[in-house]
Amino acid sequence: MFRPGFHFSVPSNWMNDPNGLVYYEGKYHLFYQHHPYSTDWGTMHWGHAASDDLVHWEDKPIALFPDEHGTIFSGSCVVDWHNSSGFFAEGTHGLVAIFTHNDTYPGSGQPRQRQSLAYSSDKGETWSFYSGNPVLSEPTLIDFRDPKVFWHSPSSHWVMVLAAGDRIQLYRSENLRDWKLASEFGAGEGSHRGVWECPDLFELPVDDGERTKWVLIVSVGGDQDCPEGSHTQYFIGEFDGIRFVNDYSPEHVLRLDQGRDHYAGVTYSDIPDADGRRILIGWMTNLRYAGNTPTGTWRGAMTLPRVLTLVTVEGEIVLKQSPVHELMQLRNGAANWNDITVSAEVPLEVDTETELLELEIEMDISSDQELQVKVQSSQACETIIGYDPGSQRLFIDRTHSGHIDVHPDFAIKHNAPLAPKNGKIKLQLWVDRSAVEVYANDGIVVMTDLIFPISPVNRLWIGTNAGPVLLTSLKLHTLESLRD
Ligand code: FRU
Repeated sequence: MFRPGFHFSVPSNWMNDPNGLVYYEGKYHLFYQHHPYSTDWGTMHWGHAASDDLVHWEDKPIALFPDEHGTIFSGSCVVDWHNSSGFFAEGTHGLVAIFTHNDTYPGSGQPRQRQSLAYSSDKGETWSFYSGNPVLSEPTLIDFRDPKVFWHSPSSHWVMVLAAGDRIQLYRSENLRDWKLASEFGAGEGSHRGVWECPDLFELPVDDGERTKWVLIVSVGGDQDCPEGSHTQYFIGEFDGIRFVNDYSPEHVLRLDQGRDHYAGVTYSDIPDADGRRILIGWMTNLRYAGNTPTGTWRGAMTLPRVLTLVTVEGEIVLKQSPVHELMQLRNGAANWNDITVSAEVPLEVDTETELLELEIEMDISSDQELQVKVQSSQACETIIGYDPGSQRLFIDRTHSGHIDVHPDFAIKHNAPLAPKNGKIKLQLWVDRSAVEVYANDGIVVMTDLIFPISPVNRLWIGTNAGPVLLTSLKLHTLESLRD
């Protein structure tokens, strides 16, 4: 039930975080936190899928099973091009997974998290655990997990960012086996409304130019009082191989996705230079209700893969996200409108042949009316995506989106600030069987929300809350389903 048509979802049972995102020898690998025996979170394994194009995924056998050191929590993969680990035959390379082994301290029974390695010489088909596991322990910390490793060429070291309680620790290594603490970041910085998890650190050009900045992504678990539950933040700053320094003031919180359902997002390793994209995939849910979604025999889907870039908006450098262009191959039908005026009385109504849709809208905001796009399966069951020029806010209203008993906080209308550009707002909307993703003004603001319509979406209602609004351009694409 609710199996997405074009978002990746687990074939059966439970899935959470994306893990070990790596491109190697023509394939994008997607490993993920997986409980193969239940639709609830439990004994963690690494599930596996692979793709040529980030759109069509082939399910693979489970990559990592629990062993004597514990279950397999989140982590990353790198290509060890020069065999620095010594795991591969001389002169060859292969994949190394760096992940958290989770078990308990003998005696006390307290949770214990330690970092370990596994490697594959056959392009991720089969894996061996390193005999020297674990490679990194810290007996004073309970939350000590989710290593993300990358090669830092200016200092010729591997760097690991790791969630360590309320901060990120940075470690360095020459061989992936021996790690030394280099620095820490995060005390008093950004959002601390919950435990820090799943960090990522990478460098990106600013405005496509020569100048670069470093981006540190940190997921935040969302404590009891945090209105939005779990969420993902990022920092922008400098990194010299040792230390990350935040460019902004510690109170300034930058949100990666302002919807309710993006968590634990991390980026691909080893995308070839000729491609050069920084591609992120997140787990599409909220920790607050991840275990309650009404999806039957499977539970867990990923966001669309998104390309991250840095742009300057009103003097501030921020992340911009756009779904990978490969998704365009799913378009199998289109309708276009130019310069149409819609209102509450005279909306544009379209019966859609499929519930899998992509909508591109350019809205002229001079009339000051609130645009509403209703994604409907009936008038009683609809999700509204809209923009209010008065408050300059983009919103998603899922109060009548269908099965809202997922959690008391599920039925909400929530919003994100969005300033117009040249008197216009641009929206790109992706509608799948159980999710909507909205990319506004070319991905400066992104909102991802789960929805569970009572019956399949079959109609779009595009209008306003009152008077007329001019849509200078409207494009509707129907999309092919990859999975039924
Ligand atoms: C994030 C997370 C990670 C951990 C994994 C366990 O959702 O809690 O911190 O490694 O899930 O499944």
